[in-house]
Amino acid sequence: MNENQSDLTDLASEANLSRRSLLKRLLGVGVLGWLGTIFYPVAKYLVPPPLGESTVTSMKIGSTEEEWSEPFKIIQFGRKPVIVLKDQQGNYRALSALCTHLACIVQYRREDNFIWCACHNGRFDLAGQVISGPPPASLETYDVNITDDDEIWVSQRQV
Ligand code: FES
Repeated sequence: MNENQSDLTDLASEANLSRRSLLKRLLGVGVLGWLGTIFYPVAKYLVPPPLGESTVTSMKIGSTEEEWSEPFKIIQFGRKPVIVLKDQQGNYRALSALCTHLACIVQYRREDNFIWCACHNGRFDLAGQVISGPPPASLETYDVNITDDDEIWVSQRQV
């Protein structure tokens, strides 16, 4: 083998090596991309997006002349569910509808005159204070105003 043939063989082997390393890198990038397409949606599913604060400060929920099929309504106040109820004396009240235990939606038991969470039998009075059960905190309360036109407005409580 002369010197020229040896140089050609070296060049061919270097080109082969660099082609091989290029293919390995491309394969590595492809595997990373494939793993990303699997794990990214899983991670997005497991980590819920942060909820922004509700920008709604007041909203009309109906009229006192309307007949309700239940003694309460669950409304969406911005991003928060709110329970609006008509108590035994005919007064309207509005409270957060999310139980402070594990965030089940509460309901008003008019015959017993308390707010009830069916998930673990949590009970709140009409001011939102815990009566019994596992809820660790009271329900947030909202203001309810009736206009001269008999419209019912729920608004965030002014601190
Ligand atoms: S979620 Fe309401 S009592 Fe547990």
